Amino acid sequence: MSEGLFISLEGIDGSGKTTLIQYLQDKLATYPLLRIREPGGTAISEKIRELLLNIDNYLITARTEAILYAAARSQVVEQLIKPALDEGKLVLADRYVDSTMAYQGYGRGLDLQFLFTLNQLCTSGLLPDATILLDITPQVGEKRRKHEEADRLEQEGREFQARVREGYLQLALKEPKRFYVVNANREFRHVAEDAWGQIMSLLIKRGWLPGEN
Ligand code: TMP
Repeated sequence: MSEGLFISLEGIDGSGKTTLIQYLQDKLATYPLLRIREPGGTAISEKIRELLLNIDNYLITARTEAILYAAARSQVVEQLIKPALDEGKLVLADRYVDSTMAYQGYGRGLDLQFLFTLNQLCTSGLLPDATILLDITPQVGEKRRKHEEADRLEQEGREFQARVREGYLQLALKEPKRFYVVNANREFRHVAEDAWGQIMSLLIKRGWLPGEN
């Protein structure tokens, strides 16, 4: 078992993950920390990200899409996540395997067993110790990203986001020990307090007491 602690953040588009992860990174400034985002995180994975999110690439099939997300993940796991965990770091990931299950599985309708196996193969079965799911309605998510230009996935619309959200909730029900669901329809300070409380309890369980690093 690794020495480090691996926490992923998940949620539909506009759920506020990126704002939260920045807040957590600041709060955790005294800890040895690796922050990554998916797809991305390494030069190769960032190239795959560009391929996946570019709106010109509308011909990508659902299966190709899933495999490309998995390829980007495989690279980041080998190159960054595993070494960081072996060095005893705290890894904060903005999306991980559950994004593929929720978006390509529940959102696109690909076979869940196929995606589960794909994730297993591409990560050698590495799962986060904990996953924080920011749960919001697609309406709220849409409002929050109104000012941004939509990428290829965001262009899929509200019904797609609703299926992805439902998928995430199903995943959380299947693995209640790993998932912690936060109601992200609230003001940011409440969401942040809730998520921070959960992370503190994980750190304390590990014996990583705040202020001792
Ligand atoms: P981001 O906007 O959170 O950076 O994520 C990029 C988009 O990629 C987002 O719409 C979710 C999508 N995505 C998948 O569809 N499957 C995946 O496995 C991952 C990691 C992201």
